[in-house]
Amino acid sequence: MTLKLAFIGYGVVGQGLTEILLEKKEMLRKRYGFDFSIVAISDIMKGSVYDEQGLDMNMILDMVKEGKKLDEYPDGKKGMDSLQTIKETNADVIIEITFTDVKTGQPALEHIHAAFDAGKHVVSTNKGPVVKEVRALLDKAEKKHVHYGFEGVVLAGTPVINLAKYTLAGTKITGFKGIMNGTTNYILTRMEEGMAYEDALKKAQELGYAEADPTGDVEGLDALGKVVILTNVVLGEKLGWEDVKCTGITKITKEDINLAKKEGKRWKLIGSAFVKPDGSIDAKVEPVKLPLSDPLAGVNEAINALTFTTDELGPVTIVGPGAGKRETGFSLLVDLLELNRKVQGEE
Ligand code: HSE
Repeated sequence: MTLKLAFIGYGVVGQGLTEILLEKKEMLRKRYGFDFSIVAISDIMKGSVYDEQGLDMNMILDMVKEGKKLDEYPDGKKGMDSLQTIKETNADVIIEITFTDVKTGQPALEHIHAAFDAGKHVVSTNKGPVVKEVRALLDKAEKKHVHYGFEGVVLAGTPVINLAKYTLAGTKITGFKGIMNGTTNYILTRMEEGMAYEDALKKAQELGYAEADPTGDVEGLDALGKVVILTNVVLGEKLGWEDVKCTGITKITKEDINLAKKEGKRWKLIGSAFVKPDGSIDAKVEPVKLPLSDPLAGVNEAINALTFTTDELGPVTIVGPGAGKRETGFSLLVDLLELNRKVQGEE
């Protein structure tokens, strides 16, 4: 079966996934029996295009690079908004990658509900809906017999959700701690080398690490969203974003960084959550001055790291990219391949 894909939102992550899909098309077909056709794209800035036979994605990538609107694509239907694209196209899978709002979950939440109502699968890197109502969404997906994949919402393509769900199955995970935001880790790394905060932030934006509004990164909201997601999805405990104490990196000065250096320490923005003996959750996001002997102190650039505390193995740590165009695009491929395995299992 060929999975027909539609992109809702088409920023760097969507373009990263497209590049990977085009480059690995043959390998994906041969090794995993994964065949795809991209039939629609709807983006609030770039416009929309739909061709039920499939779009020429090399042409689309060139157009987007040249700053052209999708309406300039030579064929296909134009002018469909996101909800029309979800409901009225022949796509089987909706790739939801619009901007993230962890407080409301919108507009992604509406898109995902519409897709489930239309009997369509969803893969998404959007943290908002997962923070807002992951349990309700997973229940609804099950009822509608569709798949909801969101590997990339924490640590991009570094497979944290799959690690907890499949590889660590059978262990009890009682907590986690880690560096979960690439932008702030990149900024702290550059500041330690002497770069000014504003310049480092600008660089992080150019490299595609930061959110559309980077306030969410530097104030710790992005990491907070990930703490909420992992608490609900991995620890299986209910937690809302308003339950987490959150401090970002905006108050860390050059002087703080130099002082830490002299003390043999390094600032990191750490997100964590642990189940306390009484069953309540201790969750927070805050900058911590770590001794260089701490493994997390050696994780620099936009790299992230996460340590799960488990009953059978003690601490288990995964280190890898937590942001970036292809690194996040790849997480959607992980979700698509999982969906493909499910669909193949049903055939
Ligand atoms: N802005 C996020 C980060 C992207 O910097 O980590 C990945 O969630």
